[in-house]
Amino acid sequence: MLQAINDLISKGVFDKVAESQPAASVVVRPEERPIAQQPTIEKVWNCIVDKDVGIIGLYGLGGVGKTTLLTQINNKFSTRPNGFDVVIWALVSNGYDIGKIQNKIGGNIGFSAESWKNKSVEEKAVDIYGVLRIKRFVVLLDDLWERVDLN
Ligand SMILES: Nc1ncnc2c1ncn2[C@@H]1O[C@H](COP(=O)(O)OP(=O)(O)OP(=O)(O)O)[C@@H](O)[C@H]1O
Ligand SMILES: [Mg+2]
Repeated sequence: MLQAINDLISKGVFDKVAESQPAASVVVRPEERPIAQQPTIEKVWNCIVDKDVGIIGLYGLGGVGKTTLLTQINNKFSTRPNGFDVVIWALVSNGYDIGKIQNKIGGNIGFSAESWKNKSVEEKAVDIYGVLRIKRFVVLLDDLWERVDLN
């Protein structure tokens, strides 16, 4: 048996035993060429890959460049190795409506039927959680005006 194993090993080609990790699933968004944002992008990116950081808040006056920065971060997921499975972008905007935010997140992970959108907030939360709990995911919420109940 040992001889047979040695024969097989000598015939094997084991240069490569695993494929490299696939890139995160992310929808690349149109971006402008921001100036002097690189240090801030790096700062945010370091927080994202820090395993001890769960939530990051970017805040500032209107027009200061939050959406531009978030777009850069979103697109970076498509080119930089990061270990995440899925990146979700959802525009929240003024007039907080948890159902609408759920529809946007759900649409990114395959729940796009009208019948699904008509489910209750609790049902949608369970469906979304069922998909995301087994993934490493990033949710980017743009234009938040108040606290969002992530549970
Ligand atoms: N670093 C930058 N270099 C050049 N232009 C920039 C930069 N950051 C933002 N801008 C420009 O400034 C304008 C406002 O930026 P942006 O929409 O990102 O701001 P915001 O903080 O998201 O604003 P709001 O709070 O209104 O959503 C845009 O036209 C954008 O192109
Ligand atoms: Mg904005």
